[in-house]
Amino acid sequence: MNGRAGGERPRLVVLGCGFGGYSLLSRLDPRRWDLTLISPRNYFLFYPLLASATVGTVELRSILEPAQRRLAGVRVLEAEATAVDWEAKRVACRAAVGEDRFEVGYDLLVIAVGTAVADFGVEGVAAHTLRLKTAEDAHAVRKGILDRFAAAEIPGLDDAEVERRLTFVVCGGGPTGVEVAAEIDDLLDRELARAHPQLAPRARVILVEALPRILSGFDEALAGYAQEHFAREGVEVRTEAPVRRIEAGCVHLASGERIPCGLVVWAGGNAPVPLVAGLDLAKTEHGRLIVDRRLRLAGRPGVYALGDCATFGDVPLAATAQVAQQQGKYLARALERERRGRPVGPFKFQSFGMLAYIGAGEALADLPGVKWSGRTAWLFWRSVYLTKLVSLANKVKVLFDWIKARLFGRDISRF
Ligand code: FAD
Ligand code: NAI
Repeated sequence: MNGRAGGERPRLVVLGCGFGGYSLLSRLDPRRWDLTLISPRNYFLFYPLLASATVGTVELRSILEPAQRRLAGVRVLEAEATAVDWEAKRVACRAAVGEDRFEVGYDLLVIAVGTAVADFGVEGVAAHTLRLKTAEDAHAVRKGILDRFAAAEIPGLDDAEVERRLTFVVCGGGPTGVEVAAEIDDLLDRELARAHPQLAPRARVILVEALPRILSGFDEALAGYAQEHFAREGVEVRTEAPVRRIEAGCVHLASGERIPCGLVVWAGGNAPVPLVAGLDLAKTEHGRLIVDRRLRLAGRPGVYALGDCATFGDVPLAATAQVAQQQGKYLARALERERRGRPVGPFKFQSFGMLAYIGAGEALADLPGVKWSGRTAWLFWRSVYLTKLVSLANKVKVLFDWIKARLFGRDISRF
């Protein structure tokens, strides 16, 4: 794609349709900007409810919002950006569908490509675990749980093999690991207990964390509450238990302990996506791009980075939806002001706190000045995320999913 389409409108190319990119694009006026979104997926994914989608508390399509529906006037190119030519101001892309490769020129570029899942060199993560980063991952976890129950019903298996097939290990006790362990346990306690009354009591959920406690980013007392809650609910938590190696059907801890299991979900944290890993730019030790207070990349005029893939060099920003969304909003305003020749101030993050679901209708709310847990925190968690969903269609669908799950149970059809 060559030349400048759209006359005087500056060509603004955004890489990534996540919290950062979507938040930015939804605030820019396509009559003033020639807007292009490059993203391998053509939808926005509402991550905070992704763990719920792994067991059918909500359905996947309820938390996806197609970019073309809300971002009218934005050209959407379903492709992965693979490299940037800073001199020529062009992005090289590989189409998401088919084998095509092409280039797109820009005047301004925003890198908002999020992160991949880190394996920290643990052998077997790619081959023998499921992750929780994409809609496909959530579907694979849901099917994987149901597959293991189908496999454990086979007649003639010895007890140890049944128990192995029904052991679900979640590696990583950050918020992703905690929420997915909680949702799996909910499914075991309700729908699977009814569908497989002989097997469900033999199923185990084990959450394995390298650090001395789970939820290290949360208030310590709240994390302690989550750990006690898991103990009451039967989720086994192993802290100070780094995973060293994973092979088919077994997790090996650094202590030498082996955990035979049917399914492993790996939630070890964030790593740079291949595009960011390949860019020859200043980065932190975790591979995040270093930006200044106006989200600009040093030495690359007209290039910005935001969301999980970027941070300040001195004070690190949390890799959360809140940060990415606020940055998108900030950058939309900053670009407009700059274009009108007005002064632009720095980005300032305003934290509204953190929430996490811990299962059995309970949640944690770690808010500025207020720490609270239990049933009411869960109601708060649900109401916050219902309001944060990006479209009315998403809100209505999620609300109906919750009602359906409550009335009829989660759908355990295996496909
Ligand atoms: P993302 O939202 O990940 O979007 C990145 C986009 O870039 C995607 O569209 C992707 O397809 C695209 N992309 C990737 N590579 C390329 C490429 N080469 N070229 C073009 N496009 C590319 N945060 C909270 O604050 N609260 C929560 O409750 C919460 N829950 C979470 C639950 C889970 C299971 C996970 C995994 C994360 C959760 N987070 C939560 C973190 C939050 O989702 C991220 O911080 C947020 O999504 C970051 O936004 P982003 O725009 O940087 O990246
Ligand atoms: P994380 O980095 O927060 O947690 C990963 C955990 O895995 C860490 O506790 C780490 O010690 C552990 N780990 C790493 N290697 C290990 C090993 N070999 N063995 C055992 N444990 C190991 O990653 P997570 O949970 O995926 O979150 C990513 C980002 O998304 C964070 O910024 C988080 O705040 C955000 N998030 C927020 C949520 C919320 O607010 N409810 C929900 C999910 C994610």
